[in-house]
Amino acid sequence: MAESTRKPPPRKAGSGQRRKPAAAPIDPEKVAAAKAAKRVEAEAAAERKAAEAARRARKQRQRILTYGAIGLVVVVIAGLIAVFMVRFRRRSPDGIGIPVRPSLALEAAWTGIPLGIVMIIFFWGASIFATMQHPPADAVPINVVGKQWMWKLQHMDGRREINELHIPVGRPVKLTMTSEDVIHSFFVPAFRTKQDVVPGRYTRTWFQATKVGTYHLFCAEYCGTIHSGMIGQVVVMEAADYEQWLSGSTPGGPADLPPAAAGEVVFDQQGCPSCHRGDASGSGPSLAGLFGRSVRLSDGTTVVADEEYIRESILDPGAKVVAGYQPIMPTYQGLLSEEAIMQLIAYIKSLGAT
Ligand code: CUA
Repeated sequence: MAESTRKPPPRKAGSGQRRKPAAAPIDPEKVAAAKAAKRVEAEAAAERKAAEAARRARKQRQRILTYGAIGLVVVVIAGLIAVFMVRFRRRSPDGIGIPVRPSLALEAAWTGIPLGIVMIIFFWGASIFATMQHPPADAVPINVVGKQWMWKLQHMDGRREINELHIPVGRPVKLTMTSEDVIHSFFVPAFRTKQDVVPGRYTRTWFQATKVGTYHLFCAEYCGTIHSGMIGQVVVMEAADYEQWLSGSTPGGPADLPPAAAGEVVFDQQGCPSCHRGDASGSGPSLAGLFGRSVRLSDGTTVVADEEYIRESILDPGAKVVAGYQPIMPTYQGLLSEEAIMQLIAYIKSLGAT
């Protein structure tokens, strides 16, 4: 309290700080600077006010449009019902209607036109869906693990976050997600993105933020008592700010190693190198250059080595055995956390073909 009262009021900060004597000569430069600062402040305030007014006007227009459209439909439909009720009412108890002769052109039109509209919407939607399923190659990869009741996120340089996601503006971001317990759903309304996060498998989503700012992050799948508290925020930053944020130090320790490096630690700790050597000499296949390649299995089929396949091979090694190898690998079910598995995958991804 005492400290805050000692501080000079903000407006006089420029003049009162440096010179103690009351009779200090007025510095014209400082006066000009103060005036300029005031002007900037006033301009900013006016801008904020204008933006608020514009927002309100937009809301108002939307409201008029919505209620106008609803009103129009109600009036037209209710009106037609009323007109038809009177015009086509049964005039005598034994009256019979005149049979209608359908017009082929009319029927073709009312079948063909809606069909055309629906087809346009279908292909439009399908192409958007296809785009949603395929993140661009240069997307920033981020790992997400949902658990009751929080979001755990990790960037590829090792930086971790909980219930907060920092991303750069104008760059695609790709999330690889799984859950430690029940189904959650990663939902950022402002990005129009919602994707279930399912235990036992990876789901993917990607988006590209177009505006710097802070946005709501929700869990959109009822997941237990504190489901409604499983919320957070997505912070979209300028590229430079993002880089700076990324390089910002977090409490150290092995937990903050980049996932690929942490994965290597797990790999060594679990004794994986005793079978999976860098060459073909081990009793398990070499993992160098494995990721993304197609692999021939002992049953003659092939499979692409993606996240899902590697995860399955760690937890259920007998499911897809590589051609030429024996099904001798033990399962790691229950020995590795979801995060450790993601780190192992990051490590295997980092093993180039060399
Ligand atoms: Cu997690 Cu709802």
